[in-house]
Amino acid sequence: MRHLLNIRTVGATLLLALVVMGAAIAQAAAPLKGNPAAGKTLYTTKCVACHKADGSGGIKLTGNPTPNWKLPKTWADPIRKNPDVFMRDCIQNGKIKSGMVAWGKTGQLKPQQIEDLIAYIHTIAKKK
Ligand code: HEC
Repeated sequence: MRHLLNIRTVGATLLLALVVMGAAIAQAAAPLKGNPAAGKTLYTTKCVACHKADGSGGIKLTGNPTPNWKLPKTWADPIRKNPDVFMRDCIQNGKIKSGMVAWGKTGQLKPQQIEDLIAYIHTIAKKK
């Protein structure tokens, strides 16, 4: 009897562990959704110095200048064909030669904050 109970307890514990793992995996796989309002706060404190408040950029440090997000031509550039992927990569890994910080890689911004910033940049962009 005692033996049987143990098997049940182990079974229940395993099942619970599987359910918890499943939920964690489902959460990790769900894409993060950016919140532009949160992005604006981050942008104002961390990005304006180089990208300007309106996103028009043009600030040159050591390489390429910051892009002009107010120019439809910027968004028409084939390298921004998938703008979110392009921006995510840049914010994550930086462009060290040009002076763009690797915010994600260095742990200065969390994945959710990067999504918030991308969402905000879309709201200030002029694409047409
Ligand atoms: C010290 C100056 C500096 C700061 C601060 C800075 N950036 Fe940049 N950023 C740059 C430069 C320079 C480039 C251009 C890099 C290149 O093209 O080689 C760039 C490029 C980018 C790009 C690629 C954009 C494109 O369309 O070409 C994104 C996205 C970006 N920055 C987002 C951000 C965000 C978000 C922040 C704030 C968390 C930020 N940057 C802070 C200098 C900076």
